[in-house]
Amino acid sequence: MPCDTVSLGGREARRERLDVLGAEQIGPYTLLRLERGELEPGVPGQFFMLEAPGRPLPRPMSLCQAPPGGLTFLLEPVGPGTRSLCSLRPGDAIHVLGPLGNGFDLDVQSPLLVGGGVGIAPLPYLAEALGDPPALLGFRSDRHAEVACLLPDAEVVVEPRLVTDLLPDDPGDVLACGPEPMLEAVRRRASGAQLAWEAPMACGYGACYGCVVEVGGRYRRLCIDGPVLRDVA
Ligand code: FES
Repeated sequence: MPCDTVSLGGREARRERLDVLGAEQIGPYTLLRLERGELEPGVPGQFFMLEAPGRPLPRPMSLCQAPPGGLTFLLEPVGPGTRSLCSLRPGDAIHVLGPLGNGFDLDVQSPLLVGGGVGIAPLPYLAEALGDPPALLGFRSDRHAEVACLLPDAEVVVEPRLVTDLLPDDPGDVLACGPEPMLEAVRRRASGAQLAWEAPMACGYGACYGCVVEVGGRYRRLCIDGPVLRDVA
């Protein structure tokens, strides 16, 4: 089993070829289960670069679940790379690099998880790490909302209702992941929230500057400054 260790600013990530254990359809999403090999699952909110067969660039994916001996990713087939990953089946194998980036800070007093669409991907792993705190999830349709089964106790809304409609006046320690408009709305309602942002990534470790975004008036390389940012006022 080919495996390389990559040192990134004092932290180690590994690149390894992993077997596909399963691919489960949940609404429009695919839950892709890989063997874990020698990779560490990392902190919830960190991501892995998955090399889609036949595609030139890997795709960054947050870890969704870390069952014993496995790594699970939630995928939405929105382009050639994600469609290729969604077509993987047991017997296939892909190269995976990770864990990468900064995950969520788990030292929180009253966590509230907030997620939208495929952005709920890191929340099952995060919920497990935090002892299943309350969670609010929003989706664009009932079919998309089927994936809420990954967080069985979550409160769920479907558009036109928005997940931010459910935020209490004093939301506590919000940890959120989802589309940018949702994160901006959460940011306005919950100062100090930990927000996991998304951006296209080519390398995943700070070399290509393909993931630079402006957040809170500052430019960040999301792959190494994020994807979870804690200091956005
Ligand atoms: S993905 Fe290359 S610098 Fe961030």
